[in-house]
Amino acid sequence: MNLTTDVLIVGTGIAGLFTALNLDENINVILVTKSNITDSNSYLAQGGISTVYDENDIEDFIIDTLNAGNYKNKPEVVYIVAKESKDVINSLINFGVKFDSINGQLLYTKEGGHCKNRIVHHKDYTGKHVIETLSLKLKDRKNIKIIKNTTLIDLIVKNNKCLGGIFLNNDKLLNIYSKYTVLATGGIGGLFKNSTNTRILTGDALSISLRHNIKLKDIDYIQFHPTALYQKSADRMFLISESLRGEGAILKNIYGQRFVNELLPRDKVANKIWEELKLNNCQYVYLDISHLNNEYIKKRFPLIYNTCLDYGIDITKSPIPIRPAQHYYMGGIEVDELSRTSMNNLFAVGEVSCTGLHGNNRLASNSLLEGLVFGRRCANYINKNIYNKEVEILDCNKNIDEIALENKILFKNLLKKYRSDISDELV
Ligand code: SIN
Repeated sequence: MNLTTDVLIVGTGIAGLFTALNLDENINVILVTKSNITDSNSYLAQGGISTVYDENDIEDFIIDTLNAGNYKNKPEVVYIVAKESKDVINSLINFGVKFDSINGQLLYTKEGGHCKNRIVHHKDYTGKHVIETLSLKLKDRKNIKIIKNTTLIDLIVKNNKCLGGIFLNNDKLLNIYSKYTVLATGGIGGLFKNSTNTRILTGDALSISLRHNIKLKDIDYIQFHPTALYQKSADRMFLISESLRGEGAILKNIYGQRFVNELLPRDKVANKIWEELKLNNCQYVYLDISHLNNEYIKKRFPLIYNTCLDYGIDITKSPIPIRPAQHYYMGGIEVDELSRTSMNNLFAVGEVSCTGLHGNNRLASNSLLEGLVFGRRCANYINKNIYNKEVEILDCNKNIDEIALENKILFKNLLKKYRSDISDELV
């Protein structure tokens, strides 16, 4: 089957949805999701979204982001994100997102690497609330159509120009031709044995990029979150949000001794935990928040409280066994500050893209923010430039089975070359 549209967006995490909602309402959009809208890393996000506290905080925000990223970040991109952060948060509020607040004043929490409280949140399930709110908004937009359970297999390409995408939907082939295509396909956690990500994220768009010589960047920059709930085996490791540490939770080794400053950037804390696991030849350390008020814990962290209870752990009384797990990919498809890739008419936003914001270690809660800032930039560019564009149709005769198979291994093999140190962690 063939469809045509003005803009094709692949992926329905925060970056894909925010791009779609920022496009002019006279532009036709097809949003494609591999599963459904509730199956994304954005939906799982707990801690919140970072933002500058006020105009005077821009410099500190930049320093914290560069410091966490070990100064491998692109400073000009960090500046853009800091400068536009308040505005995208206000835009979410206008879309109906309700961040925790008292008497109309936003409540900010803290996470590792931030010098102050500057993270807006909705209890401990910020991502779920934001995605559900944006999904409701999508329903009002007659120009946006959503296609679910449909996997991107390849791009339609002519002379380094993207003409759309080839998809599989219930074993049937679907070609979607578009003036512009936006990849918002998320991270790579599905390639790892232990990850906090949804398993459907297998880096397909990165394999497709390799096949078409679309530039990738910072291939070896993978982030491990220090505190995933320890489980002997799990399809997805349940995250214990860094905001617990921001609110006072303490890391202890199996002998009950504190061994690290809990609010260091993520890579430093994860490394300390790994050292501790090796030193004591054990599988987990503990995160303890039980010294805080019970009612406060239940109200502020209902998702974590209830999920841990399902696993037999009452976090108001006992420490939580945790260990690091793959969490985020800082590398990805190289984009400029308008989210443009090295292929004409092709954009990338969110975790699949590499803007240079994060350096080699993302500052906590900067991921949803990046998706918002660059999703909106991408939409603004398209709004201005789409009117002289035409959809081009190209007959594509491809061996889909072969390509689908190749998508599973192309990027994974590249990753193994760059990160032989973690090849045991890959599935
Ligand atoms: C968390 O809540 O710890 C995750 C937030 C993030 O990945 O930035």
